[in-house]
Amino acid sequence: MNSIIEQIRHRRSVRSYTGEPLQAQHESDLLKYIAGLAHPFGGKARIEYLPLHMGSAPVKLGTYGVISGAPAFLALIYEDSELGKTGAAYMFEQTLLHCTTMGLGTCWLGGAFSRSDFKKLCRVTAAERLPIVSPVGYPVAKALKPPTPADPSLIDRPRKPFEATFFSGAFGSPLSPEAAGEYAKPLQMVRLAPSANNMQPWRVVGDSAGFHFYKTFSFGFASVDIGIALCHFEQTCRELGLPGQFQSIASPPQGRNARYVISWLR
Ligand SMILES: Cc1cc2nc3c(=O)[nH]c(=O)nc-3n(C[C@H](O)[C@H](O)[C@H](O)COP(=O)(O)O)c2cc1C
Repeated sequence: MNSIIEQIRHRRSVRSYTGEPLQAQHESDLLKYIAGLAHPFGGKARIEYLPLHMGSAPVKLGTYGVISGAPAFLALIYEDSELGKTGAAYMFEQTLLHCTTMGLGTCWLGGAFSRSDFKKLCRVTAAERLPIVSPVGYPVAKALKPPTPADPSLIDRPRKPFEATFFSGAFGSPLSPEAAGEYAKPLQMVRLAPSANNMQPWRVVGDSAGFHFYKTFSFGFASVDIGIALCHFEQTCRELGLPGQFQSIASPPQGRNARYVISWLR
């Protein structure tokens, strides 16, 4: 499953695992993939793979009962900089999407884990932050759900309507999938992005220059959620052969309660 669109359609939060350790070839594929990642905005971030049976002593990492049977975890660690956290989230989502190609389940966790346990294992320095972890493993049968249908009108997950988060030219002027044309697909892939509490804090204004990305609140995980949305958008554009790049512009459209993050210029 090399298609990013397929990976996005298959990824869902998985919270129950069989307990089976990762097969050696899956583990080495995952480690190789992580090692090849680069921060999209030039920041510093790393992703640590933590099998729970490292060495002879099994490791116990508290997740307060939300996750069961996970044989391993991934932890996201980054250094503060402009877009540092957002770019780190982009890399973490790339990793979780790659996991779907091997039939591995994952789940972004921002709240329900013991930060001190993870920080110790990952040797987090004073300059580093560890905001997110994810279990990684084989889902139990009942946690396996079919991929989201390819037809966007059949999206089977609780998501805001297309027109509620995407705008044409200015905030207040909703963008329809028809008017988005060849960009409807990348924007549908943004809709399928995971977000903390499923808040979907991304807003996008499209115009002749490209697409301007915003977050609706500055607290909590909005900077992380927007990084995931940027990953889905850019990676889908690349797959569809739609050229462009992220760049900060001086006078983006302004919206109430929407903080500008970055633009994707055609
Ligand atoms: C930044 C972030 C933090 C999250 N934290 C948690 C968490 O602490 N516990 C949990 O069960 N799910 C957590 N989630 C998963 C979301 O609830 C989930 O992605 C969302 O409900 C959409 O469902 P889906 O991932 O199956 O599409 C988090 C997701 C994100 C992006």
